[in-house]
Parts: sequence; structure tokens; C-alpha cells
Amino acid sequence: MKKTILITGSTDGIGKLAAIRLAAAGHGVALHGRNAAKLARVHEEVQAAAGTEKVRSFVADFSDLAAVRQMAMEVQRDLPQLDVLLINAGVFNSPVRQIARGLDLRMVVNFLAPYLLSRELLPLLSQSPDPRLLNLSSAAQETVSLGALSGELNLATQEAYAQSKLALTMWSFHLAQRWSEGTVIAINPGSLLQTKMVKEAFGRFWSPAEKGSDLLYELAVGDGYAAHSGKYYDNDRGGFGPAHPDAYEAEKIAALLRTTEALL
Ligand SMILES: NC(=O)c1ccc[n+]([C@@H]2O[C@H](COP(=O)([O-])OP(=O)(O)OC[C@H]3O[C@@H](n4cnc5c(N)ncnc54)[C@H](OP(=O)(O)O)[C@@H]3O)[C@@H](O)[C@H]2O)c1
Repeated sequence: MKKTILITGSTDGIGKLAAIRLAAAGHGVALHGRNAAKLARVHEEVQAAAGTEKVRSFVADFSDLAAVRQMAMEVQRDLPQLDVLLINAGVFNSPVRQIARGLDLRMVVNFLAPYLLSRELLPLLSQSPDPRLLNLSSAAQETVSLGALSGELNLATQEAYAQSKLALTMWSFHLAQRWSEGTVIAINPGSLLQTKMVKEAFGRFWSPAEKGSDLLYELAVGDGYAAHSGKYYDNDRGGFGPAHPDAYEAEKIAALLRTTEALL
């Protein structure tokens, strides 16, 4: 069945590869990027793969939560249907660590923006007969410091990234328990895939980017995943597996979400 899939961070890496493959297979694809010129170039490429099916594009810098709110409104206005929200945009290295209100860039782009966008788009997504929210986590997951999330403590790059990814995983598991009509899966697409993020952060790779984008394609449109809602797909192991222990701790999740709502 043809689906409509919104992929955040689809101007590069595994998000872009997944967008091209989904479009070529005849699915409706909506792109997102932070840089309008780069997004326009990728839009042309994905549109060529899509043929007559109209590709849509949305611009928002996820370090700016007002821009995320604006994007959520535009998506609701422009997309008649949304079956899969693929939260893929993410940042590891950056010369800028702290942004407005002293918040950590990784916490905002990798967790607060996805949380906000998902929350705002859940009503639209829920109208789909088989709604899916796919959240890009990572093998890197570390206990979340609420002080760091609130911008009161500074973290090193790796810590900030790993904490933001565990926060997203905790939220995924929490939502899965409440959103009975939808499927929520947290995903490690595979470690050290050959993408811009990994090149800048580590300069070496373990696997081609397609290892990650092929998984995103499968989880977006494959059958039988509703039974796996609230789970973590670990592509380093090639299947569903355990996330960080904190992702199963109801009190820690409740504390995380209280702080998150207060920040938003
Ligand atoms: N590659 C891996 O080995 C690996 C492993 C585990 C998890 N992941 C996760 O997989 C996802 C995709 O990673 P990737 O390796 O494909 O990275 P990538 O090639 O660097 O692509 C990241 C995407 O996110 C976008 N993005 C970055 N900062 C943004 C911001 N402030 N606002 C909006 N969009 C922003 C980028 O936009 P630009 O094109 O403008 O830069 C790009 O489209 C990430 O969430 C990452 O954490 C990757």
C-alpha cells in the first residue's frame, strides 16, 4: 500500500538515501532540512526518483523550537495524510554547543525538537490506518542528566549526544504504551555508518550508509511491526534488542517528561 512518509533530516546521510528509495518505490515523500538551498537541491533529486508523485519539502532549523512549531503547522496545512513520521535529523559534532537559554544543541536538535514535532503531529498521524513513529536513537545511550537537559550543566560532545539519544528512546517507549493505535520504534541504524556525521566525528566507518537506510525503508513500509511497538531495533545485532536500562524505568521517564514539558 502506498504511504506518505515525512523524513526529518533528509538532506544528507541515511535520511536522504531512504527518501530516494521510498520515492522510487512510489510512496509519498515529504523532505525536511535546515538549509533551504541544500533542501531545494535534494528535492530535485528525490522528485526525479518519484516521477509524477509530488514530493513536498519543509524547512526548519531544529535548534530553534519556534521554527519546529512553525513547521508542524505547515505540515498539518500541506499534507492531507501522514502515515510515517521518521525522526532522523540529528547532530553530533558542532562548533556551537550552547544555544538560546543555555540549552545544549544536541539535547535540542536530537530530543526536544523531535518530541515537540511528534507531539504536534500526533493527531494527523493518528488518522492513518497504520501510523508509525520511527525515532533514530543510537548505540550510544547514557543516563540523562536533567540539569544538562535544562542547560544548567555543560556536557562533552559524546555525553550530550548519548544522553539526547537515550532521552528520545525513553520518550519512544513511553508513547508506545499510550498510543494504542500507532507503532513507535526506537532505532539504532547501525554504528559508524558512512555518513557526514560519522566522517566529521570519527573519520572512519564500519558499514556503508545503506545498512541504515535499508532498515529505515523496511521499518517505514514493511509489514508486521505493530507487534513491536515500544521496542528498540538494534541494527548492530540485526534485530530487536535491549535499550539502555533507564528506558524501562517508569519514574525516570516521568521525571524526564516533566522537565521536557516545563522546558517547552
Ligand atoms: N551514521 C551512523 O553511524 C549513525 C549511528 C547511530 C545513529 N545515527 C543517527 O541517524 C540519524 C542520521 O544520521 P546520519 O549519519 O545520516 O547523519 P548526517 O549525514 O549528518 O545527516 C543528518 C541530517 O540531520 C540534519 N540536521 C543536522 N542538524 C540539524 C538541525 N539543527 N536542524 C535540522 N536538521 C538538522 C542534517 O542537515 P544538513 O544536511 O543541513 O547537515 C542532515 O539532513 C541521526 O539522528 C544520527 O544520530 C547515525
